[in-house]
Amino acid sequence: MAVEVGVDVEVLKCEIRKTYAAVSQEPETDFIFPTGRAWAEDLNYPEELARVPDAAVESFAGVANPWEHGRLSPGECVLDLGCGAGTDSLVAAVMVGPEGRVTGIDMTPEMLAKARAAAEEMGARNVEFVEGEAERLPFADESFDVVVSNGVIDLIPDKEAVFAELSRVLRPGGRMQIADVTIQNPVSEEGRRNIDLWTG
Ligand SMILES: C[S@@+](CC[C@H](N)C(=O)[O-])C[C@H]1O[C@@H](n2cnc3c(N)ncnc32)[C@H](O)[C@@H]1O
Repeated sequence: MAVEVGVDVEVLKCEIRKTYAAVSQEPETDFIFPTGRAWAEDLNYPEELARVPDAAVESFAGVANPWEHGRLSPGECVLDLGCGAGTDSLVAAVMVGPEGRVTGIDMTPEMLAKARAAAEEMGARNVEFVEGEAERLPFADESFDVVVSNGVIDLIPDKEAVFAELSRVLRPGGRMQIADVTIQNPVSEEGRRNIDLWTG
């Protein structure tokens, strides 16, 4: 599907999957964006980060700290949109405790494999990881109290579809804690057509 953003969305998704498969499988690589535990610590991630295994955190690729918006309460149901290797999902799993529930969704299978292995290593039984796309969430209306997301929505051209889906799956009074990249000035046509600017 060609959209007015200047890129073919299916080609873009393919490139994004390739980029983040590499982040999951070759975490020691020097990417054009920061990754890993040292980066999460630089962002002042909460103390729960220490409980999250390296299998997840070595492939952390967030852009900022969504926990600056606040902590979760025990028992809450949480969606981690674009969970990657699961760092924020597993931080959330500790915060909500055994009465709570966390669902991470991502479209890159290699990232999900790492997230599941890390949850297993940590013994986290209140978290599950689902393959799917942010523009078409496979969840019932009003399923979650909180949406957490880090560095994902900037990668998706159809932001209206994403926010419509987030509004649909959040319960009335629910909240979003989003860390993401925003722009202050319009991007040129040439910039919009540059797929590398989208994927990174
Ligand atoms: C920059 S990484 C951030 C991963 C994770 N949130 C973290 O902080 O480590 C972006 C993630 O978004 C996922 N993603 C990008 N577009 C997506 C979409 N349309 N639907 C679902 N996941 C998507 C990618 O597969 C990738 O794992």
